[in-house]
Amino acid sequence: MRTVITFGTFDVFHIGHLNILKRARSLGDRLIVGVSTDALNYKKKGRYPIYKEEDRLAILSGLSCVNGIFREESLEWKGQYIREHKADVLVMGDDWSGKFDCYRDLCEVVYLKRTADISTTEILAGIRAAS
Ligand code: CTP
Repeated sequence: MRTVITFGTFDVFHIGHLNILKRARSLGDRLIVGVSTDALNYKKKGRYPIYKEEDRLAILSGLSCVNGIFREESLEWKGQYIREHKADVLVMGDDWSGKFDCYRDLCEVVYLKRTADISTTEILAGIRAAS
């Protein structure tokens, strides 16, 4: 059983999120997703996500490519989460390229190319501009 783990906020769920999750799942037998909490997002970005934590968790757990979810409460605990979930592969988008190489002693680290021309930030900017 090869376990893949990935992390993210997945706010205002979009096609880029679905693409990376499906590709991550295809690298193993099960995919576990660490969903960053509202509190962690506030700490990181100074604002809360549009979709609340429970809803972001519910959307992810409803996807057929996702086998398990948990709350990512601290950016510093990735090593612990990798161990806890016995992950063989850590997948991140290539916006994080090189940033998680420190976990290569715990598991394989793979950076997947982001889907072009879409992000939560751009969606929100588009909505604001249109209103
Ligand atoms: N992702 C992707 N392609 C996109 C957008 C996101 O592959 N176009 C990936 C990211 O690289 C990350 C995961 O999806 O591994 C979750 O990203 P997240 O930061 O939650 O989404 P973004 O749309 O990038 O959000 P933001 O604009 O707020 O940074």
